[in-house]
Amino acid sequence: MDKGYHIPVLLNECIESLNLKPEGKYIDCTLGEAGHSSKIYSKLSKEGILLSIDQDISAINFVKEKFAKELSEGNWIIKKGNFEKITQLTNEAGIKSVDGILMDLGLSSRQLEEKGRGFSYKNAEESLDMRMDNEMGVTALDLVKVLNATELEKLFRIYGEERFAKRIAIEIKRNDIQTVGDLTSLIYRVVPATSRREDSHHPARRVFQALRIAVNDEINVLKRGLDSAYELLNKGGRLVIITFHSLEDREVKRFFDDKSEKNNSKIFEVILPSTSEVEENNRSRSAKLRVLEK
Ligand SMILES: C[S@@+](CC[C@H](N)C(=O)[O-])C[C@H]1O[C@@H](n2cnc3c(N)ncnc32)[C@H](O)[C@@H]1O
Repeated sequence: MDKGYHIPVLLNECIESLNLKPEGKYIDCTLGEAGHSSKIYSKLSKEGILLSIDQDISAINFVKEKFAKELSEGNWIIKKGNFEKITQLTNEAGIKSVDGILMDLGLSSRQLEEKGRGFSYKNAEESLDMRMDNEMGVTALDLVKVLNATELEKLFRIYGEERFAKRIAIEIKRNDIQTVGDLTSLIYRVVPATSRREDSHHPARRVFQALRIAVNDEINVLKRGLDSAYELLNKGGRLVIITFHSLEDREVKRFFDDKSEKNNSKIFEVILPSTSEVEENNRSRSAKLRVLEK
């Protein structure tokens, strides 16, 4: 078995924010390598229940092997599925309502590192796939082929906030893109050198983010997931969400503000990773933790 790649972000802050009761019921919508789930589970008594969801079969298989003993105890349930179907998945697990729900959005380091996924602009030879759930239909390559230049430009602008969206989109349509490397070298050519120098990140980062969001329909899924998650919470239950970029963070903030205004739910102060966490785990640098109490 591989040792795993993922370091959980804001782990203690999430556990505290969930305000765990040993006999409570909880849902982790984004199992990943179970960094958060295993910690939540360790705080529960035999009466407590944890349901962990992930749409990526590779994550589920890894966790089932690593935590086989804990999972045999019966009160940690794992389900493959999209958290936009959280109501159905929770019903299937025989749970009616819960005391806390966690979403640690985005990709795990496993998905970034794993061969053949096409998520990382470092793996040049791979096909542009980017599906978190490999049973889903559309890949990033399909989008690049099927969308016209105007549609691609819009996608890069809205989901990637990419300044050079138009130039990149036009150039994509002039070239035969197949692999991650084809796309990254095209972007490198198109983005002006001055801009590349100003930005410490890889010039392909925004386009990759945009394609990934589109392939996995991440913003719409998040909106539906938040609505359903809130419905499942008991009064006083907590919704704990880690976001990694402004688009998803905006959705969570908007949702929380709405629930605070209409339902009097309580919003807690946003929590950011400490300097030492960012030093130890660079992936945490853009994380924001938002907490709502129903
Ligand atoms: C950032 S990782 C979670 C890492 C986990 N908290 C840990 O510490 O090990 C996000 C995980 O959520 C999954 N995921 C993202 N969006 C999802 C969705 N809409 N439905 C189900 N799983 C999703 C991804 O497949 C990935 O494995």
